[in-house]
Amino acid sequence: MTLYITRRLPEPALSAIPADLVWKMWPESGTPIPRDELLRAVAGVEALVALVSERVDEALLTAAPRLRVVANMAVGVDNIDLAACRARGVIVTNTPDVLTETTADLAWALLLAAARRVVEGQKLIEAGGWGAWHPLFMTGQDVHGATLGVIGAGRIGGAVLRRGAGFGMRLLYHNRRPSAALEAATGAAYRDLDALMAESDHVVVCAPLTAETRGLIGARELALMKPTAVFVNVARGPVIDEAALIAALRAGRPWAAGIDVFEREPITPAHPLLALPNVVATPHVGSATVQTRIAMARLAVANALAVLRGDAPLTPVG
Ligand code: GLV
Repeated sequence: MTLYITRRLPEPALSAIPADLVWKMWPESGTPIPRDELLRAVAGVEALVALVSERVDEALLTAAPRLRVVANMAVGVDNIDLAACRARGVIVTNTPDVLTETTADLAWALLLAAARRVVEGQKLIEAGGWGAWHPLFMTGQDVHGATLGVIGAGRIGGAVLRRGAGFGMRLLYHNRRPSAALEAATGAAYRDLDALMAESDHVVVCAPLTAETRGLIGARELALMKPTAVFVNVARGPVIDEAALIAALRAGRPWAAGIDVFEREPITPAHPLLALPNVVATPHVGSATVQTRIAMARLAVANALAVLRGDAPLTPVG
């Protein structure tokens, strides 16, 4: 077998696979392939289309000695041991660009929902708690005209910032280094992490999970935020110290949070973040629109096929 796909992909993504290619796909769309089955499945394959739920590590690479390409159906590649792939000459690809705007939309959905208490409001109605109108009933925090701080202003972070302009916001960003191109494109100003946390009215985290960003935001950084600030994470859970975030939200600083990604996913209804009225949570759905998921699946398959043909991959990592 030449190509293995670790999850049932939407039909339009499969039409590009040539009729003479020997390939297989895990038939479930909602259940990941069990690890032992995956290790067996990759034995002779040259190309693997993987999701973030699959760990591509030494053990998998050892089980797949003919592997030439891992095509991740995600922009994040923290599920892949990049150094181990490099050492074996295995190409890694991801799915940038096609999900940028969709993920930025979700960051904004969370920001607005948390700032304006959208989910809390619906729960209140459902619980029969909507009584008389009064001046400070369900009051939230303004988003328009406020200062927006983006941590990790790459493609997605840049798109989050661009949306901020439409809301008349002052824009700040923090990256490893300032970027003149980003500043020209968005009008955002660079701040170090502490200054961004302190100056921003609302903070959105878009940084990829790497050794450098793991635990980037902990109790100390959260304590710098304004007591009226909304904190949004659409990146990866472990970029934040989740226990510190829970404690901070309980203490009311930040004021609220919109969280799409968690330390360990999936979370259950017992997760302590869900017990907080000032939290809006979504189940890691940043890129989850029909259009974008099909585009991501198509791109992942196209990357795998390109390498199998001996062509350059479309979107290699690194
Ligand atoms: C999803 O989380 C992705 O990295 O694309």
